[in-house]
Amino acid sequence: MILRLAIIGFGNVGQGFARMLVDKRDWLLKTKGLDVEVVAISTRSRGSLISDRGLDIERVLDLLANGKSLDEYGDEATECTARQIIDRTIADMMIELTTLNIEDGQPAIDHISHALSEGMDVVTANKGPIAFAYHDLRTTSRSMGSRFRFEGTVMDGTPIFSLIEKTLPGCEVIDIRGILNSTSNYVLTAMTNGRCMKDAVMEAQAKGIAEADPTLDLDGWDAAAKITALANVLMDARMTPRDVDRIGINGITAETMNEAARQDNRIRLVASASRNNDGVVLQVKPESVSSRSPFWSVNGTSSAITIRTDLMGELTILETNPELTQTAYAVFSDMLHIVESIRSGTL
Ligand SMILES: NC(=O)c1ccc[n+]([C@@H]2O[C@H](COP(=O)([O-])OP(=O)(O)OC[C@H]3O[C@@H](n4cnc5c(N)ncnc54)[C@H](OP(=O)(O)O)[C@@H]3O)[C@@H](O)[C@H]2O)c1
Repeated sequence: MILRLAIIGFGNVGQGFARMLVDKRDWLLKTKGLDVEVVAISTRSRGSLISDRGLDIERVLDLLANGKSLDEYGDEATECTARQIIDRTIADMMIELTTLNIEDGQPAIDHISHALSEGMDVVTANKGPIAFAYHDLRTTSRSMGSRFRFEGTVMDGTPIFSLIEKTLPGCEVIDIRGILNSTSNYVLTAMTNGRCMKDAVMEAQAKGIAEADPTLDLDGWDAAAKITALANVLMDARMTPRDVDRIGINGITAETMNEAARQDNRIRLVASASRNNDGVVLQVKPESVSSRSPFWSVNGTSSAITIRTDLMGELTILETNPELTQTAYAVFSDMLHIVESIRSGTL
């Protein structure tokens, strides 16, 4: 089977995924009988490519690694926008990996909606579309008979959505709690070890964990987008990150940490989704967790989630210090899940 991909957004995750396609090419052919071709790549400022034949991915990666634009690739270079590329490409599947827009999830929502409407299957690691428009996108995918997967939006390649969907049929999710933002957890861990917040943030930036502007993480917006995505998909909520009762970690001081330590507790930024009589309630706030909590030992850039269900009780999953490979793997595994669905004729 030949699978043709259009990759919209080709930064860290897009390039990591492309590298995985190169490294796993023989395995994909031998084990899965799958020949994956990338037929379009779109970036905002580093050039774009479109071709009816597969692109030479190693050449593309070399150009970018050497600071060059994709315009230097050859005749396949195009000035088309992402939207125009989605219109023109012969791809079977669109991989959406553009930057998160926490205001409204755009233009990724448009990219996904358009690709699904064109009958393409879609994979994304961008949480914006799931946090702002999950149900509309799901409706479009069902009406078009297209498949839509997004495992990388929360805890990278750790199976959360797939776990519930594929291995816990009939289980209702009652509530969710998680440590979902690596930067704030790294900063809080460093503060537990006696660093001040400013030094901890600078250290996280130096290690490439935190962005130059870490406010999305420290103010709790990233965790808010993730808990909204989880609630929309697993608890049938119709919410956006603006509905989250949100407090970031900026107000945490050495005194807060010391007070927690005196009670043998640690401060963690906890995102939660629960139900009351009015529906689903979403929160992100720093909490003092005791040594009996599964979150006690979630340190550094690790993440954890506890999902309480009606039939399987409480499940806690820990992801230890993930790197880019884990996010690229989320996209890779979603791609393979879709191939399985295509082969079995299911959605
Ligand atoms: N990095 C992680 O560990 C991680 C983990 C989980 C989820 N994610 C999510 O995965 C997505 C990609 O992350 P990343 O780290 O790869 O980000 P990144 O390095 O900033 O790359 C984003 C890419 O999207 C392109 N882009 C932005 N707007 C575009 C547009 N309108 N049309 C076409 N291309 C556009 C950028 O082009 P330019 O290069 O020209 O700006 C760049 O190629 C994000 O939504 C992120 O939240 C990332």
